[in-house]
Amino acid sequence: MELNEAIKNRRSIRKFSNQSIDNSLIEKIIEAGHWAPSHCNTQAWRFIVVKNEQIKKEMVAAGGAPTIKYAPMGILVLYEDVSENLEYQDYIQSAAAAIQNMLLTAHSLGLGGCWICHLPPKKTLRKIFSIPKNFNPIAYVLLGYPVQPPAPAPRKLKTLELISYNQFNFNFKKTAQAKIKIKRFFKKIYYFLPNSVKKLIFPLINKFLIKKFTN
Ligand SMILES: Cc1cc2nc3c(=O)[nH]c(=O)nc-3n(C[C@H](O)[C@H](O)[C@H](O)COP(=O)(O)O)c2cc1C
Repeated sequence: MELNEAIKNRRSIRKFSNQSIDNSLIEKIIEAGHWAPSHCNTQAWRFIVVKNEQIKKEMVAAGGAPTIKYAPMGILVLYEDVSENLEYQDYIQSAAAAIQNMLLTAHSLGLGGCWICHLPPKKTLRKIFSIPKNFNPIAYVLLGYPVQPPAPAPRKLKTLELISYNQFNFNFKKTAQAKIKIKRFFKKIYYFLPNSVKKLIFPLINKFLIKKFTN
């Protein structure tokens, strides 16, 4: 698939068929992640392939996005704690570069993927996957065969509206900070809720997400 076509036609996929994915394709996807740029060329990522239903259920029960359960598999992306530049969180940027490579490759192979950071607290993920302290969970990538081809997503702004030269010179409407702070507050509370309570509000969250993100 031509690169520009892959970039423009890739969409987040959250509904998958039951068809399982061949290990050779999973390896191709991870290899694409491994060829991403990384800060100081550290290449300190690791990829945990998750196919086990029980583990997926545990992730959801501990506060992960309900979609994790419905995807045939996922890949948990980790990065070793080797950052010298916490100001710019370079290890997250390196992992993010790998994840985008993976999503584009999955798309080019006829698979669908979705970047997920609605995950249980890192402490819980460390327990579930026995992750040592010197590795950080960064994000999870859902993978599977899409049930329907995704429709293209229009861009909110024109490319020229995103460019200014030499100085910050943009027309923009400031995002209401109060709204963001409220959302952050509820997110924090959500993470601290016991799993039994999280289970009660899952159906609501699921309904909201499906409505918001239906492809
Ligand atoms: C850093 C990051 C975190 C994301 N986390 C989630 C998530 O937790 N759950 C989810 O359903 N989608 C998640 N997404 C996917 C976005 O919702 C999606 O990319 C966005 O709605 C644009 O849609 P598109 O990918 O189809 O263009 C995430 C994307 C990024 C880049």
